[in-house]
Amino acid sequence: MNNIILIGFMGVGKGSVAREIVKQSEMIALDTDDVIESMENRKIKKIFAKEGEAYFRALEHKVALWLQKEVSGTLISTGGGFFKVPNLSEIGTVVYLSAPFETIYQRIRAHPNAKSKLRKRPLFQDIDKAKKLYEERAPLYKEAADIVIDVSGKELDEIAGEILQKVRQDD
Ligand code: S3P
Repeated sequence: MNNIILIGFMGVGKGSVAREIVKQSEMIALDTDDVIESMENRKIKKIFAKEGEAYFRALEHKVALWLQKEVSGTLISTGGGFFKVPNLSEIGTVVYLSAPFETIYQRIRAHPNAKSKLRKRPLFQDIDKAKKLYEERAPLYKEAADIVIDVSGKELDEIAGEILQKVRQDD
């Protein structure tokens, strides 16, 4: 397998870190939300609105099985709830990007496209609900991870370097 899987809460920067790892290594990247959107030929927001969350989670399970069977040597970034798939550890080395909720929320708000970043995330429509979800999930992300990286206050190149170094140590 030799995949690296990035897990963590919405907006923590899984996509940005993935792009930085690609820059620093020979790895090719894919994102589970992108795979789902292309399977369905529609956006996550539409899938949630039309079919509901359970349908979306079933798609994540399907993608997880495909990753386990067919994908190797790849950097995989995931949607914030993907870590719950039963075969996560069979896909590759699981890296949890961790940061306090406030840091994550500020990061989204500071983005030039903050509005659309929030709008496209059905589970980030209500800040109190998002915070509750964060609190429920924080210990579960840790439990699911082989490696935990605290990303707060760090530059992307530093985070990517740390991940590559730790994954290589783990091998
Ligand atoms: C979700 C996170 C989203 C996306 C979907 C559900 C979640 O991905 O998969 O909206 O359950 O946390 P991001 O983490 O990229 O926002």
